[in-house]
Amino acid sequence: MGKLTIDSLDLKGKKVLVRCDFNVPLNDDTTIRDDKRIFDAIPTLKKVLSEGGKLILMSHFGRPKGKVVPEMSLKPVAERLKDLLGKNVILAPDCIGKEVENIVSAMSDGDVVLLENLRFHPEETDGNDNFARKLATLGDIYINDAFGVCHRAHASVSIIAKYLKNIASGYLLGKEIEYIGGAMRDPQKPLAAILAGIKIDGKIDVINKFIEIADKIFIAGGIANTMLKAQGFEIGNSIFEEDKIDTAKEILLKAEKNNTKIFLPVDMLCGKEFKNDTETMYVDTEKQQPGWIAMGVGPKTVEQYKTELADCKTLLWNGPMSVFEFENFAKETFEIAKIVADYTQNNGLISIIGGGDTAAAVKQAGFAEKFSHVSTGGGAALEYMEGKHLPGIESITEKGFEMKRKFLIAGNWKMNKNVHESIEFAQELTKSIVNDDNVDIMIAPTYTSLYPVYETIKKSHIELGSQDIFWEKSGAFTGKISADMLKSAGVKYTIIGHSERRQYFGETDATVNKRTKVALEAGFVPVVCVGEILEEREKGVEKEVVKRQVVEALKDIQLNDFLHFVIAYEPVWAIGTGKTASPEQAQEMHAYIRSIIKNIYNEELAQATRILYGGSLNPKNAQELLSQIDIDGGLIGGAALKVDDFSTIAKIAQGIK
Ligand code: 13P
Repeated sequence: MGKLTIDSLDLKGKKVLVRCDFNVPLNDDTTIRDDKRIFDAIPTLKKVLSEGGKLILMSHFGRPKGKVVPEMSLKPVAERLKDLLGKNVILAPDCIGKEVENIVSAMSDGDVVLLENLRFHPEETDGNDNFARKLATLGDIYINDAFGVCHRAHASVSIIAKYLKNIASGYLLGKEIEYIGGAMRDPQKPLAAILAGIKIDGKIDVINKFIEIADKIFIAGGIANTMLKAQGFEIGNSIFEEDKIDTAKEILLKAEKNNTKIFLPVDMLCGKEFKNDTETMYVDTEKQQPGWIAMGVGPKTVEQYKTELADCKTLLWNGPMSVFEFENFAKETFEIAKIVADYTQNNGLISIIGGGDTAAAVKQAGFAEKFSHVSTGGGAALEYMEGKHLPGIESITEKGFEMKRKFLIAGNWKMNKNVHESIEFAQELTKSIVNDDNVDIMIAPTYTSLYPVYETIKKSHIELGSQDIFWEKSGAFTGKISADMLKSAGVKYTIIGHSERRQYFGETDATVNKRTKVALEAGFVPVVCVGEILEEREKGVEKEVVKRQVVEALKDIQLNDFLHFVIAYEPVWAIGTGKTASPEQAQEMHAYIRSIIKNIYNEELAQATRILYGGSLNPKNAQELLSQIDIDGGLIGGAALKVDDFSTIAKIAQGIK
């Protein structure tokens, strides 16, 4: 599983097109007011230069609406880049065309060219194919590091990915995917969200999403006022939306049904007028007075946040809790920022701040460095939190950015090793395998050795697998072992539909499906084996065969059940024969299996599913096979019977980051 991030690409001598977001604010005299966006891009840019790549930078700047607007030239950015990179930066007169091509072809390794504002061409925001192709011809590699525009299907953001083979995320975008993407896909629970804003419409999708996935939602601002009004509270002259009262009621009802706790402010900081210097008072929510305006939450609400966030493991925060731009109303927002910063530093909370205003608030509060992640995107962060697929990220993931799949190195012992040998082997293995967060290890001994091996490995991070599972729960089935029995022996994974079972014991697609269902129901991680025989590959029908096996195995299995599923691709002609599929053959089939999962379920799940390779995997070929982008580990037979070989393969997986 090589990750398609900037670190996994060979950049030397390559023309590397990097899409940045250099849309920085300018002063009236066209000097840069805040260079954060340029500054934050530097690690990615330096990486390309230090590896000996030719750096070609692309960005938009303002909204010139498809025309050349000299005031929106990237010239000031080029100047600042020179300072920050400590080297010359050539500003091209345009972003496509003959002159630009000539400049690029004259580049030496380590040179930097900044293409002129992409939005001088209407084709950029139109997402024009031809324009994207012209941009693509300038480079060998495309790196996207512009999260702020990833929700736009613009030519340089997503369309361009069609025309280049090597694409990846830069460091900035990688971090957004890791934090926001990770929290939305697989959050550490309890998961909380703080959502504030003036209008329900702007936040309705994100609220609905969090009602589905979060444990606690804290709501403030105008949205909270509308919800309070919907419940019959007096809210004085506070901002609310008359026409959204019913929507507010629906949200509250939906949250109740989903068992998601919604916290509205219990007290308010009210002002007489909407300005900084005005008479203020703190008041309990139910005692608000006519004529006053709620402009922030009060101290009791801050206390409530402190208590309720104490046990949370992940927090996404979008929207400040008060009108913090007015100095006299900033205190509570800053106090909540401090609480979140403390929990992040001392409580293991993963805190993610999204949205321009919230980022500005935490920066002003002085804690920006203390959160796990402060997003660089406004609209993009919000859409990502709504669970939407962002074109800029999708185009990278589709081509291979792996979504933090962990390796699984699994040993299938088949009919080898008696109880004593198994225990001895397991003991040695616990000593020789190094614990690593990125690599799961599983061993699957014979039935008789399951429990004794479990006793041996239970304090290590090695997990136990069974080589099969029967679909009936109990009864007169002489010779069979049920899910419950396996569970009581300490089993976590179960191998299903191994080709040897298909070949010798009458295993069919239908029985594989039955076993898979029972395994999921019992809470095991099924490792479903698929793979073609030699004759099928020679006939060129291997994909058809594998597709049928995958589709049939997953028949009637719902999305929610599927989450921990593992597939093992084991070409039968490679098992125990010493013949391996070539890395290219294996990668092709793994990518194909992933596309089948995408078609059955969705892209996210396809990206999250681990697909193992099996068939004469050994310490010699492991590096090359496991480095393939869609190979997420191995199901190993022969080499799993030797402690050294098996631990060496695990070590190789640990080395591929
Ligand atoms: P070998 O690694 O011995 O080829 O076996 C692969 C296998 O069948 C694992 O399930």
